[in-house]
Amino acid sequence: MSSVTSQPIIRKAFEGDERGIHEAHMRSIREICSKAHSPEEIKGWGNRPFSNLWSQLIPSGTLWVIELAEEIHGVGYVKISEESGNFNAHIFGLYLTPEVVGQGLGAKLMKLMINTGRDAGAKLVTLDSSINAHDFYKRFGFVDTGPLNFSEIGGSLVRGYPMALKITD
Ligand SMILES: CC(C)(COP(=O)(O)OP(=O)(O)OC[C@H]1O[C@@H](n2cnc3c(N)ncnc32)[C@H](O)[C@@H]1OP(=O)(O)O)[C@@H](O)C(=O)NCCC(=O)NCCS
Repeated sequence: MSSVTSQPIIRKAFEGDERGIHEAHMRSIREICSKAHSPEEIKGWGNRPFSNLWSQLIPSGTLWVIELAEEIHGVGYVKISEESGNFNAHIFGLYLTPEVVGQGLGAKLMKLMINTGRDAGAKLVTLDSSINAHDFYKRFGFVDTGPLNFSEIGGSLVRGYPMALKITD
């Protein structure tokens, strides 16, 4: 059972968090990404229906949430995969609600996810950046690996920058 927190905390996601994660994720897109993305992009991307996505990811152990006053206010997920003996880390998402942005939590989650990739033996961490987070990721050493591209998400075409960070020992 979680305790009531007046300060946001970062913890691993557990069963029961699914709806809170979904709401925080969608709100982050609608209320923060909307500052840099068009209404057409936000329409499908930020209004997706609840699905079993998060319940499938919780057992991975590489999904974190930000909890504030018993509510989920942020999510970060890094997928570790292996191909021919090489490990890869891909940051699938880092989304905070307006209530918890600007407090250093995004940076803490980034460090957690990068270190998780390093600990797993990944030599590269990849991600697709939203327009608004592009400069945020550059601060961690991520560089563009291709031109601005479009992904179909929730029926919207969403712009993103493919980026990567080389892990050095
Ligand atoms: C991008 C995001 C995760 C940043 O999280 P945050 O908790 O507000 O960031 P932090 O407070 O940890 O900021 C750490 C540093 O990065 C800077 N920073 C924060 N957001 C930034 C941005 N969008 N661009 C450039 N710098 C940024 C901060 O000023 C801070 O600098 P400092 O260390 O010199 O004080 C958050 O704004 C967010 O959830 N955005 C909407 C969702 C999104 O676009 N996610 C990326 C999807 S790919």
